[in-house]
Amino acid sequence: MCGIVGHVARSCSTRPLEVVMDGLSRLEYRGYDSAGVALTHGEVDDGSELTVVKAVGKLTNLRAALAETPTAPSRSAIGHTRWATHGQPTLVNAHPHVSMDHRLALVHNGIIENADVLRAELRAEGYRFVSETDTEVVVHLLDRAFHDADLPAWEGELAGLTGPDSDRGRALVAAMLAITPHLQGTYTLLALSEEVPGLIVAARRSSPLVIGVGEGENFLGSDALAFASRTTDAVEVGQDQVVGVTAEGIVVLDKEGAVLEPHHFSVDFARERATKEGWSTFMEKEIHEQPRAVAATIADRLDATGHLALDELRIPESILRGADKMIIVACGTASYAGLVARYAIEHWCRIPVEVELAHEFRYRDPVVNEKTLVVAISQSGETMDTIMAIRHAREQGARVIAIVNTPGSTISRESDAVLLTHAGPEIAVASTKAFTAQIAATYVLGLYLAQVRGNKYADEVEDYMEKLERVPEAIQWVLDRAESVRQVARSMADIDSMIYLGRHVGYPVALEGALKLKELCYIHAEGFAAGELKHGPIALIDEGQPVMIIVPTPRRPELHNKVVSNIQEVRARGARTLVVAEEGDTSVDEYAEIVFRVPRTPTLYMPLLTVVPLQIFACELAATMGHDVDQPRNLAKSVTVE
Ligand code: M6R
Repeated sequence: MCGIVGHVARSCSTRPLEVVMDGLSRLEYRGYDSAGVALTHGEVDDGSELTVVKAVGKLTNLRAALAETPTAPSRSAIGHTRWATHGQPTLVNAHPHVSMDHRLALVHNGIIENADVLRAELRAEGYRFVSETDTEVVVHLLDRAFHDADLPAWEGELAGLTGPDSDRGRALVAAMLAITPHLQGTYTLLALSEEVPGLIVAARRSSPLVIGVGEGENFLGSDALAFASRTTDAVEVGQDQVVGVTAEGIVVLDKEGAVLEPHHFSVDFARERATKEGWSTFMEKEIHEQPRAVAATIADRLDATGHLALDELRIPESILRGADKMIIVACGTASYAGLVARYAIEHWCRIPVEVELAHEFRYRDPVVNEKTLVVAISQSGETMDTIMAIRHAREQGARVIAIVNTPGSTISRESDAVLLTHAGPEIAVASTKAFTAQIAATYVLGLYLAQVRGNKYADEVEDYMEKLERVPEAIQWVLDRAESVRQVARSMADIDSMIYLGRHVGYPVALEGALKLKELCYIHAEGFAAGELKHGPIALIDEGQPVMIIVPTPRRPELHNKVVSNIQEVRARGARTLVVAEEGDTSVDEYAEIVFRVPRTPTLYMPLLTVVPLQIFACELAATMGHDVDQPRNLAKSVTVE
């Protein structure tokens, strides 16, 4: 939540503002309650200045504010796009926040949990607060330390800074090192001061920050996507580290101020393609990218001997063989991918699988030990609830396998094994291609474990993989019929609730369909296990109630026939029945008002197809209702606070 960008150059130009605004537009998915920038202009010798421009609402409002009052060329810039936690989405609460003398500015992602105590302390010393945010506490603390004559300056070098610039730069680094131990909670902080315009000082704890290495300029971002088109060379910032970034260099420090060797990694070039490419929304584009996302996720996993491999594995096979339980932790859509995975992994590996919402996991004192395999599923790799869950699991001795879409993300770094979903950047807040790629990745994981644990022979694994490789084509088949789903959605703009029913692997699909409708259309939607219908939910059915039913293949009559009965039961009580059913399954025709077809595919792989009409339906209904499909109200793409 909240996107942060920074840029520092050798001399003043329009580039810092351009880079930061472009970065913010790439990170706007992280929050869009307000946005703002702070810029330093001029040189210390002939009078430097700080400008702050902010606007409430989406980035387009900040663009308009900047167009109305153009800023002077700048040497460095920081920017922020906000998802409000402390304080309403108003102008005063928008970042950057500034010191009382308006010479120091700071942006923040995270939550300072002891802000109230620190605020009271600062107030007693005469500091005045204008906002309701926790962040304003940090800017005053930093300013106080920066101007504390008794605080010894940090002793190292900041490349390119000389004379008074260097002295003030080292004082700002020392100030950041001095205040961070007093902050409780989570943060990524970026600060700049007009007293040292060629420097950005940053720090992080449990919120993301990466640095992009340029030539004669450097970049900072919550996500490498912020600067992916500008450099491929990135530097990781670890937990509790502080960095000083000038145009000429980057110093990474541990919390005591010792210089660390920077850890470089390459920014994935595919991330550059984060544009709509002719589609009117990212969500539509991403729905249609699913055949490629699934294909890329399962591609090249089998070696010449028919054995599967993960991307990074730091778990001995003996531990995988000895594991007696698996717990999948995730949130939202990713947790539904986990629910689908359970059916396949238990069936293939004969290991008990629990699926738990990451934010519930550690608070119930789960039974976890060195024989437990924990699988964390996350598109962003930065979901704080999931990060805290895997930390808890590792403390209990469990090994953690991450399924993430973002290489280099916190979850991938903190796990013992990584399986990447190659879905490419997912920009729309509502997850689509990440979901299907996550399911595909869990199948790879399940087959990998079945192979290692001796539950499946190599030829059986190959057989399952071959069938999985045919799924992208089947998804394309569903997408080729998208217009019929869109037409139905356009005709239903008057609905005010929707019920989703599914059985077996169709049940998590029902939950996901309902979530898509809630987040995009802002109407009440609920997914139920179809078998639960008569245990209560059927009371919700009255004349005209729309019900979407995901029907299993007729080749599994023990599942199929019961769901067909459910269609009849709700139909008999006046429901409008929309049905997702396999091509050729005529048994539903008599009871379904509308049928969306999917091609024949193995039962366990069906969610990869049946979810697609539900995604298209929610996307089109939201567009018909006039909602912002890519940036639904109140949401942010990555939930980086608990
Ligand atoms: O980045 P993650 O996969 O960890 O995010 C988890 C959820 O916040 C996410 O799936 C959310 O539910 C989506 N907006 C749903 O469309």
